[in-house]
Amino acid sequence: MTQTSLPQPDGALHAALVPDGNGRWARARGLPRAAGHRAGLEAVRRAVRAAPALGIGTLTIDAISSDNWKRPRAEVLAILGLIAEFLVEIAAQRQPAGVRVTCIGRRDRLPDDVRRAIESAERATAAGPGLHLRLAVDYSSREAILAAVAAAETRTRATVAAALGADGPPSSAVPDLDLLIRTGGELRLGDFLLWEGAYAELVFLRTPWPEFGADDLAAAVAEFRRRERRFGGLGAQGADAAPGSTR
Ligand code: FPP
Repeated sequence: MTQTSLPQPDGALHAALVPDGNGRWARARGLPRAAGHRAGLEAVRRAVRAAPALGIGTLTIDAISSDNWKRPRAEVLAILGLIAEFLVEIAAQRQPAGVRVTCIGRRDRLPDDVRRAIESAERATAAGPGLHLRLAVDYSSREAILAAVAAAETRTRATVAAALGADGPPSSAVPDLDLLIRTGGELRLGDFLLWEGAYAELVFLRTPWPEFGADDLAAAVAEFRRRERRFGGLGAQGADAAPGSTR
């Protein structure tokens, strides 16, 4: 764990989702890319509903990255519109009871209605005792790291680590990432949670995001629970190592 990360109550997990494959899913059906993103929003709703019962306390979703501005503006605006739609639902608590939503990423480039939807949803759900849902919107992990370093009061390890762990108001402090799931068949992290993802267990699925369901999330959590996390140590191997062993 980093110096600034918080333990999860009751051993709850911090999971992250990289919803990839919306465009290919749409193309395979002769649909416009925007239809893939709309179907992707349904999969987001399913994942958010399923998460609490699987022991997930914090769920971070890569909703739209800063690099996604390289796409046609119409596609970016369509995705941002879906994010705003979802945030309005969350603010009205039509999602699982008690969700608390916060957003990470830049806000200065977002259309006003999207920024307002973020602020209202954060305000309306601030006391939510349930799942902490974090949406990464216009987010770049490298940019977040640089911003945290620049914002740290002094250049000591402690203040820089505190700034890196804060990522928003104090109530938003989050534990390190336990599990990252990427759909769509590509094997990479991209510019996502590079600091807090050290030692995260990675699960890559061929399933395109619009087909991702509660069963897939449950299977990924089960896979996570089967893995031994050693954090650079020996884990169970160390238990039978004789004193003086050269292992
Ligand atoms: C990547 O698939 C997906 C995105 C860039 C957008 C994800 C957005 C949603 C799932 C809808 C709203 C989300 C939330 C959290 C409310 P891609 O378009 O790169 O797919 P491709 O690789 O097949 O082209």
